[in-house]
Amino acid sequence: MLDPIVSAKLQRLAAMKARGERIACLTAYDYPSARLMDEAGIDVLLVGDSLGMVVLGYEDTTRVTMAEMLHHVRAVARGVNDALVVGDLPYCSYETPGQALENSRRLMGAGADAVKLEGGLDLIPQVERIIGDGIPLVGHVGMLPQQVREEGGYSKKGKTRKDAERMIEDALALEKAGACLVVLESMVKKVAGELTERVAIPTIGIGAGADCDGQILVTPDLLGSFPWFRPSFATPRADLASETTRAVTEYVAAIKAGKDGKEL
Ligand code: KIV
Repeated sequence: MLDPIVSAKLQRLAAMKARGERIACLTAYDYPSARLMDEAGIDVLLVGDSLGMVVLGYEDTTRVTMAEMLHHVRAVARGVNDALVVGDLPYCSYETPGQALENSRRLMGAGADAVKLEGGLDLIPQVERIIGDGIPLVGHVGMLPQQVREEGGYSKKGKTRKDAERMIEDALALEKAGACLVVLESMVKKVAGELTERVAIPTIGIGAGADCDGQILVTPDLLGSFPWFRPSFATPRADLASETTRAVTEYVAAIKAGKDGKEL
């Protein structure tokens, strides 16, 4: 049976779509930032496998393991009271319905309220098995970062009608299977808007324009803490990279000058 607290969080998000209130989502990877974001009123925190790139220093998300996801989901869950905590199923962790269920249970055991996987129609057996076990599931259509190697890079989706229809079918199939939310990544704004009108579950956009029910960013893109890659669709609202460099430079100079940590 679904935990009543998680059920209330999901009902709240569905009600937000119904009354046209936007859903604010961010990614989280550790206890202090998750706690700060939760206390600041964020609606959903995704422990995304973007972890691999913005925290672990991998080239893309395909090297992230279940063990790494579990470690970070535990840390985030310890810091959150109100937001829905979603744990990403990493690359190759949901190849079969059985494997998808086993790994979803592990993420839930680590403290996630819901799990997310990338894909639509092709994954319905996995999606049905997870949801059939009472685990809330978030879908993800459009640009799928776990397929970056097969696709040879990141690109905007929905430029042709055929591509748009396929993504809409994916989202409708996820909804029919019982998904509670769907992420729309890097797709033409008009297509994301159409898709949002056609599904009853909330859509959460990233690089998909403003006509979604909610938005998500990879938090370092909001805070300016990962200066080596800045996606064009994200406007940083802080510059933590420069602040870190300034503070550490001052600290190094002070210590070299013979001061202690308090005297700076
Ligand atoms: O891993 C992640 O952070 C994600 C978001 C980009 C939606 O999937």
